[in-house]
Amino acid sequence: MPDNGFHDIPAGKFAVVVTHLEMRSPPPARAVNVPEGVIFRQVLPKLDWYRDIFRRVGAEWLWFGRLKLDDAALAAMLQDPARQFYTLTRDGTDEALLELYFKPDGDCELAYFGLTAKLIGSGAGRYLMNQAIRLAWEKPINRLHLNTCTHDSPQALEFYKRSGFTPYARQIEVDDDPRLTGLLPRDAAPRIPLLT
Ligand SMILES: CC(C)(COP(=O)(O)OP(=O)(O)OC[C@H]1O[C@@H](n2cnc3c(N)ncnc32)[C@H](O)[C@@H]1OP(=O)(O)O)[C@@H](O)C(=O)NCCC(=O)NCCS
Repeated sequence: MPDNGFHDIPAGKFAVVVTHLEMRSPPPARAVNVPEGVIFRQVLPKLDWYRDIFRRVGAEWLWFGRLKLDDAALAAMLQDPARQFYTLTRDGTDEALLELYFKPDGDCELAYFGLTAKLIGSGAGRYLMNQAIRLAWEKPINRLHLNTCTHDSPQALEFYKRSGFTPYARQIEVDDDPRLTGLLPRDAAPRIPLLT
């Protein structure tokens, strides 16, 4: 447990607060309309598709976890039968990423969840979450869990709570800024200062 007060962060690193949330039983089923012009579909992702949607959804929020993986490691993850990938397509372009990971211990992790700017605030997030909850609880899981950090959308935490998730832990995460390691362009997420 860190003491109150200031803590050093080395140059080139960032620090975020991560909130872990969980759902231990399925919430009451909720009818949510399909947003106009949006198609929900499962994807068996190829490397290029995955890296493209991961960047288009996540660069604004400094997502980089999967950009660190080389082709072999990412391909192994994408082909893992315990993982399912979905998107929302509008006007012929994929505009969302949902990844469910059915873990060997019976937990299911909502590993990635997000929309591109084109769909944010259109009701598509609620629709995609409804699908995620349905798909996860179709299997005999113990719990559905996820985490969100202070670099994610400021809407995310309350959105997850309204979805039926309960926060159960918070942590500080320190990592290399992906704009300095070359994983993301230097001008990504300009609202988050580069600490060099
Ligand atoms: C977090 C995130 C998924 C939330 O999505 P969003 O676009 O704000 O969500 P929506 O617009 O679908 O929903 C917000 C609310 O407005 C309502 N709403 C907004 N526009 C609507 C519309 N046109 N029609 C119907 N409902 C609408 C939704 O029903 C929802 O209400 P509810 O939560 O009470 O059900 C989205 O901001 C996002 O992808 N952010 C970037 C990536 C990210 O931060 N991901 C989380 C990281 S863990």
